[in-house]
Amino acid sequence: MILKNNYSLLNYNSFKIDVKAKEFVEVNSTDELKEICKINNRKEILFLGGGSNILFTKDFQGLIIHLNLKGKTIEKIDSNHSIISAYAGENWNKFVNYCLEKNLGGIENLSLIPGNVGSAPVQNIGAYGTELKDVFVSCEVFNQKDCTVKEYNLDDCCFDYRNSIFKTKKHLIIISLKLKLTNNDHYINSSYGGVNDELGRLGIKNPTIRDVSEAVINIRNRKLPDPKNIGNAGSFFKNPIVDLKKIEAIKKNFIDIPNFKVEENKFKIPAAWLIEKAGFKGKNFGKFGVHKSQSLVLVNYGNASGKDIYKLSLSIKEVVNRIFKINLETEVNIIL
Ligand code: EPU
Repeated sequence: MILKNNYSLLNYNSFKIDVKAKEFVEVNSTDELKEICKINNRKEILFLGGGSNILFTKDFQGLIIHLNLKGKTIEKIDSNHSIISAYAGENWNKFVNYCLEKNLGGIENLSLIPGNVGSAPVQNIGAYGTELKDVFVSCEVFNQKDCTVKEYNLDDCCFDYRNSIFKTKKHLIIISLKLKLTNNDHYINSSYGGVNDELGRLGIKNPTIRDVSEAVINIRNRKLPDPKNIGNAGSFFKNPIVDLKKIEAIKKNFIDIPNFKVEENKFKIPAAWLIEKAGFKGKNFGKFGVHKSQSLVLVNYGNASGKDIYKLSLSIKEVVNRIFKINLETEVNIIL
């Protein structure tokens, strides 16, 4: 382990914000993680995975621990299922592709999501009708407070829409996770968000898990900017969930408000729609702006500061609140 001082985080955050960490270290094993945390237990510590869901608004004055633990194993548990284990530092999309190569189904809808395996449970990543919790078995968790490691099962993690226990309890660090996947092409979920339409466009009638993955990749590539080219962190806000009364009130002025029932008297409204109606879609402020095809995504066109993006997010929240009386919640982790 090499501790670096005044270390640039430019290549460690997908927003491509040029900030520095006072101290930075990369850990490659659980033992290294324990060791570095024991030595530095009084410092302000930030654990960083793939950096694809974080916005730095200034230099970080403490220690950044970059989680780079690697490795994966597959264990067939019956003729239909396997348990796959993967360490936190594995790239999520490469991991999905690995599973597809092994013909393991269940996470193909989560293709091309940026970030690392260890971050997936934190916000219960979800896309195109699948959430991590649907295939989740357990994860190994390092507790920074007492330097112990414990296994967390599905219930322990308190998963919800873009939420889990790890979102608020920042001292709980995911080291590895176990998923239960199908061995063959049993699991196909293509009914959501245009996946079936895209499969139709590709001329596919009986889709395999690889076909679903291809369809999802095509849709994502059309709608979402590639962080390799344009700095961004995916959806900046969560989709708000409101009751019927709220929907009816908004309908008086916006008859076409899209909404999806999630449970009795709870409806999800696309935040992208609210932001679009608030006039922000495609807005370009020079160095930064709102993406032209998906208004949930704030972008850094180059050399924007974290504060620029943060201020833009506050303006969006303010205008959406003024028009719709809805308080948008950020889904990106903002380091103030
Ligand atoms: N819409 C607009 N304007 C836009 C884009 C979308 O009005 O600019 C409306 C349309 O009515 C559309 C609806 O929003 O039908 C839904 O759009 P989309 O399918 O793109 O999904 P989303 O709800 O905006 C969520 C996730 C995405 C995920 C997609 C696909 C959240 C916060 N975001 O977006 O996740 O890829 O569904 O399942 O739940 C991410 O977390 O970084 C992310 C990209």
